[in-house]
Amino acid sequence: MAGKKIKVAFGAGAFLEHVIKEMPSCEMFDFAVDNDINKHGLTVGGVSVRPVTDIVQYSKENMNVWICVIDNTAINAIKEQLKSLGIVDGVHIISSDHHVQLGDALARLKENEDNQDYGNLNLPSFVKSFERSYDCKSGGYRFPNENYLNFACVEVPVGRFYYALILLLGGTGISCVLETGTNIGYSTIMLAAALKEVNPRAVLYTIDIENFPHIFDYVQDFDNVVFLNGSSINVDLPPDIVIDILVIDSDHSYTVCMNELLRFEPLLKVDGYILMHDTLYYNSVGYCVAQLKDNPRFEVITFETPRIHASGSPGLSVIRKNSANGFPLYFDDSKIKEKECRTGQPPAFRRGYML
Ligand SMILES: C[S@@+](CC[C@H](N)C(=O)[O-])C[C@H]1O[C@@H](n2cnc3c(N)ncnc32)[C@H](O)[C@@H]1O
Repeated sequence: MAGKKIKVAFGAGAFLEHVIKEMPSCEMFDFAVDNDINKHGLTVGGVSVRPVTDIVQYSKENMNVWICVIDNTAINAIKEQLKSLGIVDGVHIISSDHHVQLGDALARLKENEDNQDYGNLNLPSFVKSFERSYDCKSGGYRFPNENYLNFACVEVPVGRFYYALILLLGGTGISCVLETGTNIGYSTIMLAAALKEVNPRAVLYTIDIENFPHIFDYVQDFDNVVFLNGSSINVDLPPDIVIDILVIDSDHSYTVCMNELLRFEPLLKVDGYILMHDTLYYNSVGYCVAQLKDNPRFEVITFETPRIHASGSPGLSVIRKNSANGFPLYFDDSKIKEKECRTGQPPAFRRGYML
């Protein structure tokens, strides 16, 4: 048994038999011990039963003892008995009482605590450095060569929300994300980094009318990003594209935003999602969200986001496409065509679509 920890069950009663039935064979105890001399030499569920004092033949560092008793009031006395044999570490409890079991689980986690995160964002170090230029008081970015705040990219918590959402939905099979409004590509790299986690073959198409320098060109291994330089309204797309997640964050005028929805929503799969930034700040974008809210094919929720604008938060709307049947989207000529920021009043769609 060199190199492998010896696994001992303390308590060779009916409860041990029950536990053994539920255990995979690779996890099986090496032997059991019991204070009842009548059980010594017997087997329980295929595991031999020995006197408790046999434990001392083995190195304590190399041993895990699992207390398996139905009577939880006996646990402390057994722990004391093990302590008297020099065994304190590596003592665990398998209990019929869920509370005791959970308490033991937490105690074991505490014993082994470390500083590692589960699901720590798997970001290139350059992106982490970029995020450090985020000024959380204003929600803008303070770049090294600029003495003013830059508000072009989504806020860091929004970027991280995009990352988390891709992980959240990864199980639904995401293979294509399409984004309008790349700018320097902060939202792009957050989406692309998460996509790499859920599907190494997934592709992110990102469209911008400008060709700015891009974060994703400064990091290696982001060949899952395809930059399309042109207007979102008419740039060429790959043939037969089916979009799993559509991210809209380009011009913010009603004309461009609605035309993006009219062009890309039919390419979005049913059960797919649309993410729209700046929906509370720009009424021109908010009117598009209002139409989605009124359409029974979609579910919509809007969150405030941290950036401080004089007239309120930029906002992020998350839209789920529940159906492709009926109720097509349409261009409403009565709506503001250009960008219109919200002023003193609540955002457009929180006042109702017809206002
Ligand atoms: C708010 S920024 C995008 C920020 C980016 N999503 C991020 O979070 O890092 C908007 C971008 O949309 C682009 N844009 C404006 N009109 C566009 C259009 N018709 N088609 C494609 N991109 C457009 C702008 O050049 C600008 O880079």
